[in-house]
Amino acid sequence: MQEIAGRAEAIALLHWYEEMGVDIAIDETPVDRLVAPAAKPAPEARRDAEAERPPLQRPAPSRPAAVAPAPTVPASDATARAARETAKAANTLDELRLALDGFTGCNLKLTATRLVFGDGNPDSRVMLVGEAPGRDEDIQGLPFVGRSGQLLDRMLAAIGLDRTSVYIANVVPWRPPGNRTPTPQETAACRPFIERQIQLVDPDFLLCLGGAAAKEMMATSEGILRLRGNWRDFDTGTRTIKVLATLHPAYFLRQPLQKRLAWRDLLTLKTALDQPSQDFG
Ligand code: URA
Repeated sequence: MQEIAGRAEAIALLHWYEEMGVDIAIDETPVDRLVAPAAKPAPEARRDAEAERPPLQRPAPSRPAAVAPAPTVPASDATARAARETAKAANTLDELRLALDGFTGCNLKLTATRLVFGDGNPDSRVMLVGEAPGRDEDIQGLPFVGRSGQLLDRMLAAIGLDRTSVYIANVVPWRPPGNRTPTPQETAACRPFIERQIQLVDPDFLLCLGGAAAKEMMATSEGILRLRGNWRDFDTGTRTIKVLATLHPAYFLRQPLQKRLAWRDLLTLKTALDQPSQDFG
């Protein structure tokens, strides 16, 4: 009886992990979850952290987490150089996709099922940039196709846009195991590729989805609640365009009442799109 209960509990725990996005155990060294937690951050920092946390990374209140922190292997200068040169050599999105598929400088490629390259309308004036693919994206090879992607579709529809009228990509094109946050080294290794993707799509407006993408594209450590809603300049390397940040759709799945913030940001984007194009850009 005891054994059956143990087995049933173990299966229930595995199902729970799966639902939380934990579908791989990757670290070789144990993590001590019993050490005292760090001092509480200030309220504003806590709000930003909550707003920036992707859907499946919430610490479990009463169960051990199976996904260990990422290995801290710095992206070497040689990796960074190879990434820059490989990305720069691509003259079309298809070439860039092929180049990225063959690029071995980011360890996320080893655990991801497949590359999740950008998708949508490459002639669009609007390019959306997320953080990294999740489980559904990893399976389908397309950005924002899971629950947060479905909410994103509804958000876009609210201002008359859809996937045929925007282009969508991620800063990091491979799913981090268990949906953990990409390390700075992984992001740095992938950065030249998202930069080149932006150059090739050449949008007038970038919309960053979530704090991680916003901080990376806006090169700042400011929290998303401060960053969101205000246009900034973005130098693509060939011209200056506008970049706006909003919260990640996954945040709105957890905090539906905050959707009003997204609505304001989307209206800001729509207003800009409705201006004659020479006003921006
Ligand atoms: N979250 C992201 O940031 N990107 C995706 O593609 C899916 C979820």
